[in-house]
Amino acid sequence: MQIDRRDFLKYSIWGLGLLAGASLFVPGAGYFLSPAWKEMTEDWILLGDADKIPVGEPTKLEFVQRRKDGWMTVEKKRSAWILTQDGKSFTAFDPHCTHLGCPYRWDVSKQEFLCPCHNAVFGINGNVISGPPPRPLDRYATRMEDGKLWLLPVLEKEKT
Ligand code: FES
Repeated sequence: MQIDRRDFLKYSIWGLGLLAGASLFVPGAGYFLSPAWKEMTEDWILLGDADKIPVGEPTKLEFVQRRKDGWMTVEKKRSAWILTQDGKSFTAFDPHCTHLGCPYRWDVSKQEFLCPCHNAVFGINGNVISGPPPRPLDRYATRMEDGKLWLLPVLEKEKT
């Protein structure tokens, strides 16, 4: 097959046009699509000054969790029961009962966490004292930095 000069020029111009188009399209598409390929990210959340949390008495703290999911940042109001026995190490409990997820409360007079849904009772350390929950209260990771308390709002069961 022979290609004359006119066809050669025509194909060359088409080829160069496609090459120029691809060189613009590929990086642009990568820029717009790359957030969708990234995994969701979780970040530590600053709860505040650690010395504001009373010793020996669980305190419910609320916080806003921001998660990047692709292009979107999703905000969600959450909370945790924070407990410290010495003002240095802290435990953060997920505020949902490990039976069916009802919110529970701290009973000051009984010094126990009580879940009203099916009458579960948890000790101050989160262990089940009575009722149907299959396991102790779920916990979040915490860390201290320069007197500030941080929380990672991801439970072990949410990591998978
Ligand atoms: S949900 Fe708490 S005892 Fe059932």
